[in-house]
Amino acid sequence: MKKTVAVLGGTGNEGPGLALRWAKSGRYEVIIGSRQAEKAERVAAELNQKLGQNLLRGLTNEAAAQAADICVLTVPYSAQGPTLTGLRELLQGKILIDVTVPLQPPKVSHVHVPPGGSAGQEAQAILGEGVRVVSAFQNVGAAHLAEGDSHIDCDVLVCGDDKEAKAEAIALAEAAGMRGIDAGPLRNGVVVEGLTAVLIGINIRHKAKGAGIKITGI
Ligand SMILES: NC(=O)c1ccc[n+]([C@@H]2O[C@H](COP(=O)([O-])OP(=O)(O)OC[C@H]3O[C@@H](n4cnc5c(N)ncnc54)[C@H](OP(=O)(O)O)[C@@H]3O)[C@@H](O)[C@H]2O)c1
Repeated sequence: MKKTVAVLGGTGNEGPGLALRWAKSGRYEVIIGSRQAEKAERVAAELNQKLGQNLLRGLTNEAAAQAADICVLTVPYSAQGPTLTGLRELLQGKILIDVTVPLQPPKVSHVHVPPGGSAGQEAQAILGEGVRVVSAFQNVGAAHLAEGDSHIDCDVLVCGDDKEAKAEAIALAEAAGMRGIDAGPLRNGVVVEGLTAVLIGINIRHKAKGAGIKITGI
């Protein structure tokens, strides 16, 4: 049976591209989550139109979290804590893949280490040990994801303390057209999150949109 993946806050820049790729892969049932059911339904309908098939559905974040085996969080850092606090009970027993980058506007090209060590560790602290938190996809820009179903020339570094949960994230990276690499424990996510600020700075200096990272030598 296909696993169900819910993209919580999947109505913004980053979430829809991931959701579209996972739905198109045929390997997952995919739900778009939002604070508003109508917004989620609208984005799911737009993605279904792009696909030419009715593969995605839209629900509130709560209903999406309840229906999913794996939840992927794509909200701004300022919304991460409140969103996860509200979903804490519904996420127990599940895998939460955190895409959050703890950017601190206006200097979004400067690395910001949050008080909890990393956004991923802060997510784990809010959710407790009953949720297996993995951090991944922070270095993949929305512009690349929107390119459709083509392979993306970026690697996805996957950090987490549970091997099985990391394997699920690596499988999701592959289904979305990238290589997923186990990058160690959740605490290592601080480096991966920080790399996004570095990539934003590189994009600014090179007038580019899609700086990414590739691991060589393996
Ligand atoms: N954009 C990128 O290229 C990129 C790349 C790598 C990583 N990321 C990271 O991925 C995450 C999402 O980025 P994004 O660019 O997709 O963000 P975004 O478009 O600004 O927001 C995504 C969604 O978050 C929800 N949201 C916004 N404010 C909220 C609040 N106060 N409380 C609860 N939900 C709220 C909204 O969904 P609803 O209104 O439907 O609830 C919104 O559509 C961020 O942490 C970002 O750092 C982004």
